[in-house]
Amino acid sequence: MNILLTGASGFIGGNIAQALAAAGHQVIPATRRDGIDFRRMLTPADWLPHLSGVDAVINCVGIIGETATGKFQPLHGEAPSALFRACSAAGVHRVIQISALGTDDSAFSAYHRSKRVADDCLRSLDLDWFVLRPSLIYGRGGKSAELFLRLAALPLLPVPGDGRQALQPVHISDVVATVMHCLAAPAGRQTLDIVGDDTFTFAEWLQWMRQALGKPRAPVLHIPYGLALALFRLGHHCNPMLRTENLRMLRAGYRASAEPLADFLGRRLQPVSAALLFSAHANPGSTP
Ligand SMILES: NC(=O)c1ccc[n+]([C@@H]2O[C@H](COP(=O)([O-])OP(=O)(O)OC[C@H]3O[C@@H](n4cnc5c(N)ncnc54)[C@H](OP(=O)(O)O)[C@@H]3O)[C@@H](O)[C@H]2O)c1
Repeated sequence: MNILLTGASGFIGGNIAQALAAAGHQVIPATRRDGIDFRRMLTPADWLPHLSGVDAVINCVGIIGETATGKFQPLHGEAPSALFRACSAAGVHRVIQISALGTDDSAFSAYHRSKRVADDCLRSLDLDWFVLRPSLIYGRGGKSAELFLRLAALPLLPVPGDGRQALQPVHISDVVATVMHCLAAPAGRQTLDIVGDDTFTFAEWLQWMRQALGKPRAPVLHIPYGLALALFRLGHHCNPMLRTENLRMLRAGYRASAEPLADFLGRRLQPVSAALLFSAHANPGSTP
């Protein structure tokens, strides 16, 4: 298949690109390096010239925090919606959208709400679509995984409030395998949460990562929620993930059933493991 892949330079997109190429697909990267900047791709007409001969589209573009030049609404909402409408006009039937867990009726953050715009647009079109909503993804090269590894290596583990925020981490190889399965599936029109079987509290996730680093358990430093918000307000200058809204999303602790995805894949996702955490390749099972 000829597959247009946006976000091919990112963590998820890069791993998907490798798997697609390994499975014999022709990957057409649509990145800023290829002249495709989502801030300027806001109408179907902008996308149509890029869809000639394309069999499927996978959208992996996203930001976790807004910057002076990168805003949620154009990047998560308007540009992907324009792309999906162009797919409909050009007869590209299979479209896979990487959304995020929590992009549903409960969404309160600008991050989730902007993703919801594109998810809803895609679901409204007469296409063979998949909306995939991954939980926290771990694996080498992931920005959140790297930030959490750095936190886990500290002698005191800083956690907001009681540290009991729920996480269902999923390895990047299972996200990639889900995308490959979507491409090969006989029919689409499905929204799937990609969540691991194991639920951790945030504090336990840091302890688990610590163990994976070969370090003993560490005492937990509970940072009162109000103080954590103030620290995040200052910290976003150092790391774009440190946004107060991201702390609110962590606090919300999104959870979902792992059953629908297990049914779709015909297997359960891999349990968390140190070997996966440090593995260099996503190495998914794939179908050309
Ligand atoms: N990682 C996770 O744990 C996780 C979990 C759930 C959902 N997600 C969602 O999955 C998506 C990808 O996540 P990721 O971890 O792969 O993030 P990432 O590594 O930061 O990759 C983001 C991608 O978006 C591209 N991008 C950003 N601004 C752009 C623009 N103006 N025009 C074109 N491309 C642009 C980046 O391209 P450049 O290289 O040019 O910057 C990069 O390819 C995001 O929407 C994220 O919210 C991620």
